[in-house]
Parts: sequence; structure tokens; C-alpha cells
Amino acid sequence: MIVFKLTAEISEFLAKKKETGSTIGFVPTMGALHPGHISLINSSVAGNSLTVCSIFVNPTQFNDKKDFEHYPITLEQDIDMLEKAGCDVLFLPAVSEIYPNGTDTAKQYELGYLETILEGKYRPGHFQGVCAVVDRLLEIVQPHRLYLGQKDYQQCMVIRKMVELTGAATQIEIAPTLRADDGLALSSRNMRLNAEERALAVNIYESLCFIKREINTGNLQVLKLRAVNFLTEYGFKVDYVEIADATDLRLIDQWDGHTKLVALIAATLDQVRLIDNMLL
Ligand code: PAF
Repeated sequence: MIVFKLTAEISEFLAKKKETGSTIGFVPTMGALHPGHISLINSSVAGNSLTVCSIFVNPTQFNDKKDFEHYPITLEQDIDMLEKAGCDVLFLPAVSEIYPNGTDTAKQYELGYLETILEGKYRPGHFQGVCAVVDRLLEIVQPHRLYLGQKDYQQCMVIRKMVELTGAATQIEIAPTLRADDGLALSSRNMRLNAEERALAVNIYESLCFIKREINTGNLQVLKLRAVNFLTEYGFKVDYVEIADATDLRLIDQWDGHTKLVALIAATLDQVRLIDNMLL
């Protein structure tokens, strides 16, 4: 695996590869890699001649400074995992490579409704930061295909919208969420849970399963409230339990029995904020 730290060098290398007919698959990450990331690398390796992974803990997408400071960093282990998975290129930029004009001058993306709900509502500015970094990374890497995980359902939609807005020539591939044996969605943030919290964390998945089992046509308020109460009893601070149209994330209170739905949860256990979702 070749490691690049400089934008000019990786861009030149990849442009040459493209000239000779290579297809490029790209997996952007913030490191602290787990098997969920590796499944994205595997999809990219299977579908492209060259796979590029970036590791960059993007400061502009953290609305909470403490969350940024505590974000896990496991670089040596990440490099080892990427090499074993057959990743060809790793991009490890410094902040100045991604934001040469500083982090305050980033342009605004017209995300509309998508930015006002769920994660957008609870993490103001988060999706503008995600768009800024992914837009810049796409400009540098110019991949044929971009690989994202369904675990960040709203992020996938936001990035799709950003790619529509900028006209970037990349195809978005979304891979299913990987889960631990008990059902907890794999996430870099799980590393911050102690043993007791880790055992409790599975209740987010249990709540999603409960919603999937119990959902019926008509009003959904009681069902959502039962899930909130269930999580609260286990000691979670619940930001939201929501049910939305799976195609556009419009929040749904009355189900017609036909619209394809997704249930989404965000809840904090001690200091660790976890999100998950399930297609119903
Ligand atoms: O999902 C993530 O890890 C990040 O939001 C991403 C897409 C790498 C952008 O920093």
C-alpha cells in the first residue's frame, strides 16, 4: 500500500493511473477502522482496479469540541487492516492539505430539509462539515465510485445531494451496516464504551427490532414513545427515535402501510453518542 500525505502527490499519481485505464474506488474514513470499514474496502477492491482509502478526522464536522478531542485514533492498526484487505493507496492528509484557506471559509451547501432533521437538528453544522470534506476529497481523488455505509443513513443522503449539487462524476455505492454478534452496529465510537455500557448499547438495536416487529398502519407516536421509554429505562439520553420515508427521510407520523420506511435512533450512553437505523 502506498501512503500519501500531500494532495499534489496523490492527485498526480491517481491521474496517471486513470490515464492508463484504472478504475478508482474510494472509501473516506476518519480512521479507528473496524470490520464495517473493511467491508467497504472489500466492495471497492472487488469493483475497481485501484482502491483508495483516506483517514482524516475532519474538524469541521464536529459540532462538539469534546467529541473531536476524544475521537479514537488507532493509525498503526488501521494501516495493518487496510494492507490485509488489499487497499492500494492510503491518503493521510494534514488539515492544511484539505483546507488550504483555513476551516472558516468553507462554502455552504444547499441541503434544505435534510439538514433540519435528525442529525442535522441535533448536530448543527455537522453535515456542512461532512459535505466540505467529502467534496474536497472527491476533487483530490476523482474516484469512479464512492463507498459509504448505511449505518450513517442520513449522511448517505446528504452526500448524494452534495454530489448532485456539485455535479461530481462519481457513483455512490451504499453497503449494509455490519453488526456485532449481539446486533450492535459496528462504529468507531464503540471503542469508547466500557464493558457495562457496551452490554447496554445493544438496546438501540433491540429498539429498532421492536419497532420493526410492532409497526402497524396508522399513528406511530405511541410506538416511538415506547421505544424512547425503553431506552431511557436502560440509562440512555435519547435524542430521537424517528420513523421516516426511506427514500427522502420525510418524517412519518401516520403510516399508510405502503410507504417504505426506515427507523432511526440517536442516543447517548454516558458521554458516547450512538446512532443506528433499520429499514422496516
Ligand atoms: O462517516 C465518516 O466517517 C465521515 O463522516 C466521513 C464520510 C469520512 C467524512 O469525514
